[in-house]
Amino acid sequence: MTKNIAVIRGDGIGPEIVNEALKVLDRVAELYGHTFNYTDVDMGGCAIDKYGDPLTEAELKKCVESDSVLLGAVGGDKWNDVPGYMRPEKGLLRLRAGMGVYSNNRPAKIWKQLADASPLKKAIVEKGIDFIIVRELIGGIYFGEHKTEGNTATDVLKYSESEIERIGRIGFETARKRKKKLCSVEKSNVLDSSRLWKRVMHRLAEEYPDVELSDMLVDNCAMQIVKNPAQFDVVVTENMFGDILSDEASMITGSIGMIPSSSLGATSCGLYEPIHGSAPDIAGKDIANPIGTILSAAMMLRFSFDMEKEADAIEKAVSDYLDKGYRTADIMSEGMTLVGCKQCGELIIENLKGE
Ligand code: IPM
Ligand code: MG
Repeated sequence: MTKNIAVIRGDGIGPEIVNEALKVLDRVAELYGHTFNYTDVDMGGCAIDKYGDPLTEAELKKCVESDSVLLGAVGGDKWNDVPGYMRPEKGLLRLRAGMGVYSNNRPAKIWKQLADASPLKKAIVEKGIDFIIVRELIGGIYFGEHKTEGNTATDVLKYSESEIERIGRIGFETARKRKKKLCSVEKSNVLDSSRLWKRVMHRLAEEYPDVELSDMLVDNCAMQIVKNPAQFDVVVTENMFGDILSDEASMITGSIGMIPSSSLGATSCGLYEPIHGSAPDIAGKDIANPIGTILSAAMMLRFSFDMEKEADAIEKAVSDYLDKGYRTADIMSEGMTLVGCKQCGELIIENLKGE
């Protein structure tokens, strides 16, 4: 198969981690007889420097016209003082909205090789951590009106029934393919938008009788994630709650550098990115962990290109790499072999097997 991939290297460690993911994709192409064409897209701080705009229409168009987008990370202190509408993050939000990718899938899964890295007590970790946060990505307070008037600032949190319904369906469908447990997270004791959210979820539940739906308030969910993460299978929630809970969920796996994500909308053209940031403090030092990006590339193969075997092969190669005791600095522990970003990519490629 031939696929055209838009590649956003971005800022900070973005270019380094993306390089390793592309090397892995190239090896997959070789082993399985595919062709991956890459088109570079400028987004984030580097685009502000080049065009005075974190994502121009022309760059966005390249993404929309691709078969999928692979993104490293954007942002950094250098652009902290630019006005809100021009921040590097604005490029990312424009990209998500422009691609219409309303459904963000963020797995929180502990790698058995890294169980000790979790900050949670062993007894909690041993019960298992393996759930997915399905986050609504192009609505809510991120995309409501933002304004500052004098010394008052406003951000509008707004959801329509249809926006809730389409993400709700993804939640139910995702749960249906797993343990059939869906937890809908909101703040319905305070927010109108959350009461609507809850109503829509319960209406949808009638169409998915095989999935067990539960409701949880977001503050309680934040607590339950550290108290008893084993209770979760699929969590579905709105944009900002999902942003916050997915950081928390990644932390309990002990290795934010390992976690990939996918964002999809109505078509198979998806956006794939690690959930960590651009880490400007370690940029250019060849010490970043490229695995979150490599696993994001695997998700792209699985969800957008229907290349199940190829995605499995990448995940297996990562697992074998960990089994052999290699670790980048972020997940280093006693007795393991410390490797850099490039070396990590190369070792994973060595472990990649064809059919
Ligand atoms: C994330 C990030 C983004 C978000 C930022 C960079 C805009 O935190 O992908 O979780 O808030 O969605
Ligand atoms: Mg976030």
